[in-house]
Amino acid sequence: MNDLEIRSIEHWLDQFEASIGRPLVLKDSTESTNDDARKAAALGGVHGAVFLAESQTRGRGRSGHTWFSPAGENLYLSIILRPNIPPQALPPLTLVVGVCVARAVDLTLGTPGKARIKWPNDIYVGQDKLAGILLETSLRGSSVEAVIAGIGLNVFATVFPPELRATSLHLLGAHDADRSKILALLLREIGSAVRLFERQGLAPFHAELEARDLLRGRPVEINGIVGISVGIDTSGYVCVQSPDGKLHQLGSGSVNFREIAALAPSASGAAE
Ligand code: BTN
Repeated sequence: MNDLEIRSIEHWLDQFEASIGRPLVLKDSTESTNDDARKAAALGGVHGAVFLAESQTRGRGRSGHTWFSPAGENLYLSIILRPNIPPQALPPLTLVVGVCVARAVDLTLGTPGKARIKWPNDIYVGQDKLAGILLETSLRGSSVEAVIAGIGLNVFATVFPPELRATSLHLLGAHDADRSKILALLLREIGSAVRLFERQGLAPFHAELEARDLLRGRPVEINGIVGISVGIDTSGYVCVQSPDGKLHQLGSGSVNFREIAALAPSASGAAE
């Protein structure tokens, strides 16, 4: 029996009393579940509707990257969210979804606190990427019409393109993982976290975010700024201290890890 089936997912949604996950559309193959969800949202799709596929032909990640989406191995899902908040309050929602993915990973592996968040949207275990999150927003005038929360979580994959440093729940020891159960866990977490975020913002998640912060204390380069990451602030900005002592707060960007040597000023003054 396939471990990803509508009936099984519904069973687990009931068991976990998940507040989102209906309706649920599962395709064998699609271009991108984010596109499926976006089109459904434009036609009035409800908060909490979920779009899943066994494989994606044009799965996408941040910054135009492709999301590796082989058939039958992993979870590729997109959720329509209609949070009752103004657009300017939205950015930390990616981190909140990240906390939810990390919790579902820990519950599956039985390893509290092991899943870490690489600001702003990656989930790591050890040095390898396990999951990625892509939030896409549509606005109507000055209000949020819908947020599409796309999540790719590697479950059974054991072989990845060589350029990726990736892992899967299976490689991490969850040999009898059940994708329907993991999905329902994830939806339970996201359903309640979004409601809490609407009421209280990032505050109730901040301590956990700090505990799961993969970058803290590490040399990084973000948007050309090289320095030590000193944490994620209460607004969801990553804080980087450059060698001149300046503190930079960054709201978006892609992170590259750097060597400690990159922080020492070179003869030319450039931090390369
Ligand atoms: C990233 O790490 O850059 C984000 C990856 C997000 C991938 C998921 S898979 C399901 C959904 N559909 C997509 O096309 N992308 C997201």
